[in-house]
Amino acid sequence: TGSLLVDGLGRRARDLRISLTQACNLRCRYCMPAEGLPIMPRDELLSTAEVARLVDVAVHDLGIEEVRLTGGEPLIRRDLEEIVAAIRARHPELPVALTTNGLGLTRRAAALAAAGLSRINISLDTVDRELFAQITRRDRLPEVLDGIDAAVAAGLSPVKINAVALHETLPHAPQLLRWCLDRGLSLRFIESMPLDADGTWSRDGFVTAAQMLEVLGGHFALEAVGREDPGAPAELWRVDGGPGTVGVIASMSRSFCGACDRTRITAEGRVRPCLFSDDEIDLRAILRGGGDDAALAAAWREVTWRKSPGHLPADVLTHPRRSMGAIGG
Ligand code: GTP
Ligand code: 5AD
Ligand code: SF4
Repeated sequence: TGSLLVDGLGRRARDLRISLTQACNLRCRYCMPAEGLPIMPRDELLSTAEVARLVDVAVHDLGIEEVRLTGGEPLIRRDLEEIVAAIRARHPELPVALTTNGLGLTRRAAALAAAGLSRINISLDTVDRELFAQITRRDRLPEVLDGIDAAVAAGLSPVKINAVALHETLPHAPQLLRWCLDRGLSLRFIESMPLDADGTWSRDGFVTAAQMLEVLGGHFALEAVGREDPGAPAELWRVDGGPGTVGVIASMSRSFCGACDRTRITAEGRVRPCLFSDDEIDLRAILRGGGDDAALAAAWREVTWRKSPGHLPADVLTHPRRSMGAIGG
């Protein structure tokens, strides 16, 4: 009934991303420090009911049209199925997606689908076991591959695979694409962003989408098909005449901040309009202080109005206080 969620630059948020925890069972070098992020006491995380309430406000008062659950690793939450079911019960038509590293999906994909999950994106940088263990600091590739199979078997289509583009994985990119095409999975390569916990990202060091496409172009015929919608981070290429596609998410070399349609909630219930800006507002305090829906919506609009234009030209880019694992990709 209220007005839409818009920022001072005229961008409208339609896509809500909620981080359910900052804990993770992998330690990807570009995301987490070796020791992991500080463990948050359970009562600092949003409860099932609180997540559902924020989704209600987002949909009814702010015009949000799609929800994505992220982390950290959202499967760490034992109540993930309940969260999905609670959202689904109140919003039968709302697309509800999940971004996960796939660990634990073998046991839970069917239940998530039954709870009403619409789609799933799974992170997989390589199908080489040793390389996987180097990047994630954990030797758990077989479980992830099993989880991907379970997601497909549960009918959670399309299953998208996210691979961060790294120097180590660049020569293996064609192998990963072949593996995904053979299984009907839609692969996207992501440029690494300065959101690593160690602050070691460097402007000269990251692999660009152009480099990735050049390597892939040596093995496949690629035909540009553009973005699924104007606000979508991924640009797509049809592979060898189709039906398979490969995407690139060129956050750094071809920033898409101008068409950004996302709003985010961190695991402790703070709205964070932009990945790259530490400007946030605490909705959990309003929720727990007995605030009504109008108060939640007003705070959400206020911080959104101040949303940053995006990341500044790379040469003046500063490392934000939070790392990816603490925001939710
Ligand atoms: P789809 O709707 O399935 O295309 O999902 P998505 O690409 O929005 O979600 P996903 O969680 O799979 O995100 C993939 C990657 O896109 C993330 O890991 C980020 O690297 C990047 N991404 C998502 N949102 C943003 C954003 O607002 N800004 C930037 N720079 N990158 C983003
Ligand atoms: N840069 C780009 N993508 C990242 N991800 C995690 N850290 C980074 C980073 N520094 C990706 C993961 C996952 C998604 C949630 O975010 O690979 O696909
Ligand atoms: Fe949007 Fe910020 Fe991401 Fe840019 S960096 S796309 S402004 S959320």
